[in-house]
Amino acid sequence: MANILLTGASRGIGAAARTALLAAGHSVIGQSTTGGDGLIAADFAQPHAADALWAQALEQAGGKIDVVVNNAGVFEAAEIADADAFASTWARSIAINLQSAADLCRHAVLHFQQHGGGRIINVASRAGHRGDSPRHWHYAAAKGGMLALTKTIARGYARDNILAFAVTPGFTMTGMAEDYLASRGGDKLLADIPLGRVAMPDEVGEIIRWLASEAPASMTGATIDINGASYVR
Ligand SMILES: NC(=O)c1ccc[n+]([C@@H]2O[C@H](COP(=O)([O-])OP(=O)(O)OC[C@H]3O[C@@H](n4cnc5c(N)ncnc54)[C@H](OP(=O)(O)O)[C@@H]3O)[C@@H](O)[C@H]2O)c1
Repeated sequence: MANILLTGASRGIGAAARTALLAAGHSVIGQSTTGGDGLIAADFAQPHAADALWAQALEQAGGKIDVVVNNAGVFEAAEIADADAFASTWARSIAINLQSAADLCRHAVLHFQQHGGGRIINVASRAGHRGDSPRHWHYAAAKGGMLALTKTIARGYARDNILAFAVTPGFTMTGMAEDYLASRGGDKLLADIPLGRVAMPDEVGEIIRWLASEAPASMTGATIDINGASYVR
């Protein structure tokens, strides 16, 4: 069974993934912004927070981590008319949604090279393919960056037995999506989803569980969509 570092483990998709991974017998070292409930505290808006998290997680894991799941994220709106809010929201979004994942990937690759390999799972978004609303340029850009990061790691380190996967959920029923769904009128948005409903966190958690241990190595570099066919590539 694997030692798995899972970010954003307190709520939503991360909490569902934590439940699925624990049920499968894995050891999960979880993170949230403020900690509690056995999670390590790390606020990715703060410089070097991901580095400190890695050090703490490695210690907690007894010196060996097998899988890193970059799931923590924020979905905050930025009005393009407000230059200061636009700049600060971009900086915060990139720090939390992309840079922290890149920093943890960097630690993971260096660590996996010393330990015969490992797996990285990056939770991106349908927005990384399709774009997002006019108030969320930064979010789509960060998630698109995450997809490019994942493919780069997959191609660059497969020979070291380091596998990298991305997951791209569409709307998923968590705190992150609820306000947005309400603000856009739930029914109108659902009409855009052939399945007729948004994804549930445990559906995404199940994909993460599978990628963490069972997905075949030849799949490295792949992105798994989970969006009710609202965006078919
Ligand atoms: N829900 C969707 O519709 C949807 C769609 C596509 C992609 N996604 C992606 O799926 C992932 C999980 O989303 P979710 O809907 O489960 O989100 P969520 O319910 O809002 O939970 C977000 C998680 O990220 C953590 N987090 C938030 N701000 C952080 C910060 N500054 N530093 C460190 N951790 C922070 C939270 O910790 P605290 O509890 O401490 O705040 C929480 O564990 C995200 O990457 C998101 O972009 C979600």
